Amino acid sequence: MRASDKPSNKYRRAKMRHMLFTSGPNKLSRGRLFRKHFDQGIDVKHVEISTPLWPKEFDGLRIGHISDFHLGDLMPLDKALAAVQMLRDEEPDIVACTGDVVDLNVLGAEPLFDAMAKMGAPLGTMLVLGNHDELDCVSTISSMAMKSGISLLRDGRCTINHNGSKLHIAGIDWAKSQKKCTTKVDRVCGNETHLLLSHNPKAFFAAAKHGVPLTLSGHTHGGQLAVRDKPSANLAVAHKHSSGLYEDGNSRLFVTVGVGAWFPLRINCPAEVAILTIRSQ
Ligand SMILES: [Fe+2]
Repeated sequence: MRASDKPSNKYRRAKMRHMLFTSGPNKLSRGRLFRKHFDQGIDVKHVEISTPLWPKEFDGLRIGHISDFHLGDLMPLDKALAAVQMLRDEEPDIVACTGDVVDLNVLGAEPLFDAMAKMGAPLGTMLVLGNHDELDCVSTISSMAMKSGISLLRDGRCTINHNGSKLHIAGIDWAKSQKKCTTKVDRVCGNETHLLLSHNPKAFFAAAKHGVPLTLSGHTHGGQLAVRDKPSANLAVAHKHSSGLYEDGNSRLFVTVGVGAWFPLRINCPAEVAILTIRSQ
């Protein structure tokens, strides 16, 4: 269900795309497309990331990275909650969600935010919004997230105090172009930023210039269709960084392919939740 009375043009266009690439083809296939899509599992990916820029006091920090649920037709609530449980079972120190929690409509997402907030990660759950989260009603989705206890970073920063040390985290709202991402990163990231959350991986160009040790992103879905054993050869051709781990100097970027989808097909690009262990070398 929609939260806003008047759908924006972006919402209308997204709804049209949904009909063309998702609900329409599913109807033509008499539901076979959705059934096949729902049968696909979600992987747990473990990745170790090392950079000398990472604070030694947080060496070995385990981040549970989850992104791009696209709660809606292709991601029913029970499947989304199962993905959260998969991450919870890994007992991460902190959870980072890099946006596109919903596909189109905001209403009904409360239980998912509650589950993410209550994952039991001792350093909390952080969130930035994606382009799909902005389609219906940004203020509604923001208040839902904050009400649940999630730390929502909207072009903002927060500091985590742990054992007498500080971890500085920044998060930016959705920005489409590299230039717009750079403007936001320049404004939000200081020299002390350790971790940047950005739905769009294009923020990494600016983050690396600022010497941010680690950027986490989603958005690309790894193209959803990739060449076998070559995850970077995929449909997300508009992105230089579309899947997995990247480096620029001592800065690192991890792009998750996400748990959800915006069309009901994934080939050689399974949905995932990620456990990232960060090392200061
Ligand atoms: Fe997405």
